[in-house]
Amino acid sequence: MSRRPTIGILTGGGDCPGLNAVIRAATKSAIRLGYDVVGFLRGYEGLVDPVSYMPLDAQNTAGILLQGGTILGSTNKGRFTSLVGEGERVGIDPELLGQAAATVKQMGLTGLVCVGGDGSLGIAQQLHAHGVPVVGVPKTIDNDLCGTAFTFGFDSAVATATDALDRLHTTAASHERVMVLEVMGRHAGWIALHAGIAGGGDVILIPEIAWTFDNVCRKVTERERQDKRFTLIVVAEGAHLPDGGLVHEGDAGGRGQVKLGGIGEIIAREVSARLGREARTVVLGHLQRGGTPTPFDRMLATEFGAHAARLVHEGRFGEMVCYRPPEIASIPIAEAVGRLSTVDPRGSAVQAARALGIGFGDGEDGGPFECGGSSPSGT
Ligand code: F6P
Repeated sequence: MSRRPTIGILTGGGDCPGLNAVIRAATKSAIRLGYDVVGFLRGYEGLVDPVSYMPLDAQNTAGILLQGGTILGSTNKGRFTSLVGEGERVGIDPELLGQAAATVKQMGLTGLVCVGGDGSLGIAQQLHAHGVPVVGVPKTIDNDLCGTAFTFGFDSAVATATDALDRLHTTAASHERVMVLEVMGRHAGWIALHAGIAGGGDVILIPEIAWTFDNVCRKVTERERQDKRFTLIVVAEGAHLPDGGLVHEGDAGGRGQVKLGGIGEIIAREVSARLGREARTVVLGHLQRGGTPTPFDRMLATEFGAHAARLVHEGRFGEMVCYRPPEIASIPIAEAVGRLSTVDPRGSAVQAARALGIGFGDGEDGGPFECGGSSPSGT
């Protein structure tokens, strides 16, 4: 090992735009604080047999600010999976945690920066309980982590989904069709809500608001009465069907989460069957997770990375960096994991959307916008 103290970093869970910006920022600022940096490969897997890592320095992190994915690799399957089914959590094998802790100790790491979403930060928390000096960085396109106003990756995903809506708008209008855009969002409808509003959607269907086919169809016909012969529907893949079911492929086969997807096509078929209109579906899928981060995500990821290195330097282990506008701060990881940040159906974004006449499939019409309050509109 080198003679300088060393910081480790890993990226866990599903990738998202901005991971490399965090790696770059943590590395650059750690070096300036007097550390060497190593990056573990394929998430937590790199900490255990076969232990695999690469040195990170100014050279190999140069130019990665705008690169999608993660140069360290990641996994949301494998031996460290802590989420089973929808939201159920299991403890990681203590022997595995012991092996990971031994790696960190043997390598003499001052601290380990774990970049991940709810599942990956839950693992970081368990490692911390095993004596590993961890610092967390919140990541997910879904923006469903508690304790931070935004996770990096979300803004990029919203930009991609909004661009898709912009493009669907013109073709939907030209052919007088109903277009259904299915976006990611396993437990939370943040991407659907923000892209739906930014992209001029007409109906937004999210896990947090129960909806019916009747109400969706009513919105389509209401628009037609206003001589608007096309409708854009944005649906989160994790939105429940009116009977409460989730649309997914097979089951997860033990540990891991089911692969969601397919609700968009079900909605398109039902609207078409009920109204006799042409309807088409687009599933955006992993396009939302790939590619270059937006300037906002580059900024957020850079601040997060620099702040994480600073937390290690100050020995503030067990903490996760977070965004409390306008500042970057930190909170205990334990306060951020195990519960999710979901859309408040009474929140200002939903109210603003309703005020414009955007439907949520629940039959509530837009009422007056109640500033600063949280009372429901349109009731
Ligand atoms: O949690 C982020 C996320 O993008 C979810 O929105 C989505 O359901 C899931 O990851 C997909 O994961 P995978 O790439 O393993 O299919």
